[in-house]
Amino acid sequence: MAEHVSRRRLLGIGAGIGAVAAGGLALSAAWARRPASTGEQLVSEVPLPQAFWMPLPIPAVLAPVASTSEGDRYEMVQMETEAEIIPGHSTRLWTYNGVFPGPTIESRRGRHVTVAHRNELPVPTVVHLHGGRTPASSDGYPTDLVLPEGWTATAAHGHGGHAGTDDLAVVTNVQREYGFPLDQRATMLWYHDHRMDFTAPAIWRGLAGLHFVRDDIEDAIDLPRGDHELPLMIADRAFDADGQLAYPSLDPTLTGEIGVEERFTAGVLGDVILVNGAPWPVHEVDTGLYRLRILNGSNARHYELEAVTDVGRRLPLVQIGADQGLLAAPVRLQRLPIAPAERYDLLLDLNGVPVGTKVRLANRLGSGRTGDVMAFHVVREGAGMPIPETLASDLPEWDRSAAAVVRDLAFRTGRMNGRHGWLIDGLPFDPNRTDVTAELGDIEVWRLIADVHHPVHLHLVGFRVLGRGNGGPLPHDAGLKDTIALRPGESAEIITRFDGYRGRYLFHCHNAEHEDMGMMANLEII
Ligand code: C2O
Ligand code: CU
Ligand code: CU
Repeated sequence: MAEHVSRRRLLGIGAGIGAVAAGGLALSAAWARRPASTGEQLVSEVPLPQAFWMPLPIPAVLAPVASTSEGDRYEMVQMETEAEIIPGHSTRLWTYNGVFPGPTIESRRGRHVTVAHRNELPVPTVVHLHGGRTPASSDGYPTDLVLPEGWTATAAHGHGGHAGTDDLAVVTNVQREYGFPLDQRATMLWYHDHRMDFTAPAIWRGLAGLHFVRDDIEDAIDLPRGDHELPLMIADRAFDADGQLAYPSLDPTLTGEIGVEERFTAGVLGDVILVNGAPWPVHEVDTGLYRLRILNGSNARHYELEAVTDVGRRLPLVQIGADQGLLAAPVRLQRLPIAPAERYDLLLDLNGVPVGTKVRLANRLGSGRTGDVMAFHVVREGAGMPIPETLASDLPEWDRSAAAVVRDLAFRTGRMNGRHGWLIDGLPFDPNRTDVTAELGDIEVWRLIADVHHPVHLHLVGFRVLGRGNGGPLPHDAGLKDTIALRPGESAEIITRFDGYRGRYLFHCHNAEHEDMGMMANLEII
């Protein structure tokens, strides 16, 4: 990841897209042909439930086990459990505290949160708070394993393909504490497993939950609250004939060979859309204003969300926030594209929608049953609320001219361990190699370039999108982000300031299969 990449090298990225990267014209032609998805869909064998029939579950908020002036302490047990996701079937899951999604944590900006995790699963685990401004020691580095009872560190290091050894890893037995200062803007974060080589199947089995950060700035804005604020974790899954989760792991014990069957190398897509763990649920609402806190918790599936009534009327989606908190002002969207790991904060105004209407949250990138996500059933009149004209005024504005470094980083397919893999600047992840060294306090511009869809995520910092291709950012690129969805053949520029903490962090593709199969790199902040 040289700091000065020649134009020749930049153009040489990916046989198919070299020409695409060269100019705007070729670019739009490529987009016209671009595949709607990157990944291969698994087909469920169990009969699937009807859409808009199961009620939307709302993940319960976890109570702290202790609260002092210093902060709050939580405890979680990572455990296997069974849940009825497909009616009439019980599905084995890996969970935080026995529930999928995991319990929600509600916290305040700047108030310290400690989460003590106990691993009762059959494999090592790592917890990462995605979007958290977290000291490196608690950021969930992929080799900072929490071993199950009876495992030894050497055995754990021997697991998996390209892991090798990592002398810096902090391995603990059965339990460990993660500390989160949460000195950051109010937003919805999520926590998930981040173990080296096996993140994708672990998330697929259920290791994901939501974490809200609240602050006074957000509280001062008149936004829907209480039951008019809905967390929505959207995730696709597939089920076998017995109602168990299907997933094409090469080693289903998730201890040996990494990766998935060749056909699924580009990503695993499910044919069942779950929202908060329920397939195509429905939620009863009134004619008021709703705040939807949406996470795409899918491994590889991208969505393009649209709200349509049963008479075909499209309701505007008003974006008020991004991955890292509120925008400066609302952005009105017809459709919202959302890539894995991205979060969007939306307002859905049901004022004027007749009682009795079903408003479908559709996915325009899906087909057949994956074209539906969930529905809102309008069952009563409610009190309307105006949409605020301005939102937060604390968004960082970084100027390109202030950048200490401009880096080019290529995200593309390649060979790894003799198989298909995913590489950043030609290399698969290696915990022992520092890929990018950034100085604490420096502003940097990163030019990211992709061959197929790659949702690129940086740990520790939020960034702003400066532009895509030769143009500016897209409307939904507004605000402060921690994950950007690169489309096939696309390049994008982001700007950030590396502040917070020094240490070893990561950046990676959040297509979870790509991440496991090499597409991750070390970001050392010095
Ligand atoms: Cu969702 Cu490395 O993160
Ligand atoms: Cu993250
Ligand atoms: Cu990717």
